[in-house]
Amino acid sequence: MFDETAVRSHFPMIQNHPDLVYLDNAATAFKSDHMIQVVNDFYLRGTSNVHRGDYGLSIKASNDFDHVRDIVKDFIHAKSSKEIVFTSGASQSLNWIAYSYGLNHLKKDDVILTTEAEHASNILPWFKVCEATGAKIEYIPMQNDGSIHMDDFKNAMHDKVKIFAIAYVSNVLGVVQPLKQMIQIAHEYGAITVIDAAQAVPHMPVDVRDLDCDYLAFSGHKLGAAGGSGVLYGKYDLLENNDPPLYGGGSNARFDLCGNILLKHAPFKYEAGTPNVEGVLSLGAAIEFLQSIGMENIFEHEKQLKRYAVQRLQPLTHVHLYNATSESGLITFNVDGIFAQDVASYLNRHNIAVRSGNHCAKILVEIIGTSETVRASCYLYNTKADIDRLVDALTDITLEKCIEAAMV
Ligand code: ALA
Repeated sequence: MFDETAVRSHFPMIQNHPDLVYLDNAATAFKSDHMIQVVNDFYLRGTSNVHRGDYGLSIKASNDFDHVRDIVKDFIHAKSSKEIVFTSGASQSLNWIAYSYGLNHLKKDDVILTTEAEHASNILPWFKVCEATGAKIEYIPMQNDGSIHMDDFKNAMHDKVKIFAIAYVSNVLGVVQPLKQMIQIAHEYGAITVIDAAQAVPHMPVDVRDLDCDYLAFSGHKLGAAGGSGVLYGKYDLLENNDPPLYGGGSNARFDLCGNILLKHAPFKYEAGTPNVEGVLSLGAAIEFLQSIGMENIFEHEKQLKRYAVQRLQPLTHVHLYNATSESGLITFNVDGIFAQDVASYLNRHNIAVRSGNHCAKILVEIIGTSETVRASCYLYNTKADIDRLVDALTDITLEKCIEAAMV
């Protein structure tokens, strides 16, 4: 049973800002008291490096750090904790895939199949891989609500497609793509599948084995961990049989005067340099907290909030909703005749935090016909009362009020 009051009581940001309506969770999420305590303990009582010290503090930190790999493995249902690489976030993870697998396997005229709704982090690295290899990008036709018809996807697949890269949940429109079927089809053509799950893993159950994806990326801070923490999941053989894009301490077993390098096995060969120890510990704690609530419950709660928002916003004829039907906690809209940023400033005056702009998905304009939108994004601690505050503020919004808000 989802106990909204109990959930909210675990977030100090909510206690410290009782009047704030925080609806920018797709950008970053509040931190639970459990996660803060784990990081605090590390700073106050446990500070040391991992895998490099033969003393008690370092051994404990190393054990706690290694345990997080198991927590993540169970959370996303990976086969082995050796398939979990710690990174600084989804952006780094996606770059790692492009620069380890992509750069080494793609050739001239090979195709990377993707969509126009991708976040910059799942498209710019592929542009660079194309520049270096002569491969090219093709886009799957998309409906203007961000959904993809399976027939369009099937028609877009062909033998030259070597990589299929897509966001599980779009960070602007919140569409949950039917990945399992898409991945199965991509595999029939021999393509490697790369999933940007930054907006999925924090909000819904994700099972990499059931999806059968080859690579998957997500960030820690969007699920309540510290900034600068993230995960690259890869099937073990793919991780093991490709070289990392970064070299340094911790990732090699030995090297010699002649420049011969023997790398460690995956995942360690991808983790050169001192890792973000506190970030990884925070990731474990944040995941434990989410698991104590249940990912199904969190997903259901967010979908209910979204449906409630849609039901309340639809009668407002001056509000244009772009994603009324997508089944996640993102509500993306514009107000007729008012720039998105001005709407966001006006909402800020009402102590409501939303994001406005292009949300780093700069070519989505081709699909939805506008580059700028306002995005309200929900998480487990949001309530119907938060949605009411948003809708009430939007009910009597005017250009004059926005100009006034922007001038204060
Ligand atoms: N990628 C994050 C967002 O969509 C920052 O807001």
